[in-house]
Amino acid sequence: MGPRCSLALPAALALLLALARPGLGAAGRRGPPAAPRAPDPGFRERYFEQLLDHFNFERFGNRTFPQRFLVSDRFWRRGEGPLFLYTGNEGDVWSFANNSGFILELAAQQAALVVFAEHRYYGKSLPFGERSTQRGHTELLTVEQALADFARLLQALRRDLGAQDVPAIAFGGSYGGMLAAYMRMKYPYLVAGALAASAPVVSVAGLGDAYQFFRDVSADFEGQSPKCAQGVRDAFQQIKDLFLQGAHDTVSRAFGTCQPLSSGKDLAQLFGFARNAFTMLAMMDYPYPTDFLGPLPANPVKVACDRLLSESQRIAGLRALAGLVYNSSGTEPCYDIYLQYQACADPTGCGLGSDAKAWDYQACTEMSLTFSSNNKTDLFPALAFTEPLRQQYCLDTWGVWPRRDWLHTNFGGGDLRAASNIIFSNGDLDPWAGGGIQRNLSASVLAITIRGGAHHLDLRGSHPADPPSVREARQLEATLIGQWVEEARRAQHGVSKAEGRSPC
Ligand SMILES: *[C@@H]1O[C@H](CO)[C@@H](O)[C@H](O)[C@H]1NC(C)=O
Ligand SMILES: *[C@@H]1O[C@H](CO)[C@@H](O)[C@H](O)[C@H]1NC(C)=O
Ligand SMILES: *[C@@H]1O[C@H](CO)[C@@H](O)[C@H](O)[C@H]1NC(C)=O
Ligand SMILES: *[C@@H]1O[C@H](CO)[C@@H](O)[C@H](O)[C@H]1NC(C)=O
Ligand SMILES: *[C@@H]1O[C@H](CO)[C@@H](O)[C@H](O)[C@H]1NC(C)=O
Repeated sequence: MGPRCSLALPAALALLLALARPGLGAAGRRGPPAAPRAPDPGFRERYFEQLLDHFNFERFGNRTFPQRFLVSDRFWRRGEGPLFLYTGNEGDVWSFANNSGFILELAAQQAALVVFAEHRYYGKSLPFGERSTQRGHTELLTVEQALADFARLLQALRRDLGAQDVPAIAFGGSYGGMLAAYMRMKYPYLVAGALAASAPVVSVAGLGDAYQFFRDVSADFEGQSPKCAQGVRDAFQQIKDLFLQGAHDTVSRAFGTCQPLSSGKDLAQLFGFARNAFTMLAMMDYPYPTDFLGPLPANPVKVACDRLLSESQRIAGLRALAGLVYNSSGTEPCYDIYLQYQACADPTGCGLGSDAKAWDYQACTEMSLTFSSNNKTDLFPALAFTEPLRQQYCLDTWGVWPRRDWLHTNFGGGDLRAASNIIFSNGDLDPWAGGGIQRNLSASVLAITIRGGAHHLDLRGSHPADPPSVREARQLEATLIGQWVEEARRAQHGVSKAEGRSPC
């Protein structure tokens, strides 16, 4: 048995029907169109009636919530071209759609249908409305639920868009890259392969070195210039020394904080605030101006170092450097260090607002992000975030106790030899790379290193300033994905024959 080419659609999927209307997009187009530069996908925003709880039949029964997704059929060879699914991560799905031009270029090349699915609890996909990210309403926020959402959405889209048999490929960057890889591992019958860009599947599983992350952030600044790195060390040391001498006001004035600093707590907050600017700059060190987590100039690490070194006073230099992240508008008269940076269970920063709360909860449950700086292997003041500190924070904040081993138990950490058709790409400038897969694990679980690449640079659209390594990486990714799609197609025909299925 197996699904037939039924025209009768379950009522619950009526929402999706609008998508199947003829006349939208590239219906009837033959052959892949030539890849345009920065193609406009004409995304349409839709909602899917998603089950609240995939794993319990009682508490929420079959209640649902609206899950947002974006769909573009502009490049699709209808009913034949593959389906590219971006497995959304910790934010508004539009921000990933707007910063993943490579997927669109590839869709144009390979005549694919493109779907960006929003992750539950982020953006507008809120299971319990505005209350979703308040304590007491977060229990349905897990990796497993999110993957099951993507699986159900994918099945429904396939049915409703006349895409039953087209192979799907999962794409994602960062946490979204982890989800893309997990999607291939958990639902291999649904996705033929995954491009997991900058996916720290090892470090988030509680494995690896607690100092790796900030060491690698530091390495970007050392690599820019040893003088810059020394300037950073000096700035932090001066702040600490002045503080110990009781010259709190001098620090407040020189660094430009809105409130006077007084306690050791304030000093730690100031250090966390400043360190976070370096994290952002290292992650977003792209060779052209971008606006992903915030507006940044081209080569922001270089710009940051220039700013630091152009001031005669080191603390003023650090203030100017931090301004790239916290004062991009140039209109902040001072830094509100508690408002502009909120310490959370992710020492690389959660951001602000409702999405940040959801991510904090994830970092308190499944995601282990116990990274520390030590002022030895990195440029930053010693700021520890150990498992006991995490446990206490999470108990106080969310009433939960983290399960450090669970992601490892659930997905295997870095031991993914038995998986197949996954590309793990990482840029050597990206501090997340050291927490990911950097060696080829099997004939089809591959690692690609992008020299001169920051956080999932390969997912971004082509740009004249791209380093050659990212062009090569994208080419290899395109080839492998094309192969997976062909293989899946051949296998699908085999299955259809074996099932005695008639073509529709
Ligand atoms: C949901 O469950 C109720 C019973 O609690 C049932 O009557 C209804 O048909 C179910 N809805 C769907 C869409 O399955
Ligand atoms: C994404 O891009 C669209 C179109 O340029 C813009 O209107 C929207 O604000 C952007 N959204 C985000 C979250 O970046
Ligand atoms: C933000 O930028 C403006 C314009 O350059 C500057 O006058 C102001 O001092 C900056 N704010 C801080 C806190 O440094
Ligand atoms: C970092 O370590 C150096 C050398 O031990 C020390 O002099 C300096 O004060 C430390 N800096 C901070 C910010 O703790
Ligand atoms: C993994 O294999 C691919 C394809 O053969 C190759 O291009 C790539 O450089 C290898 N990766 C590493 C990290 O050796």
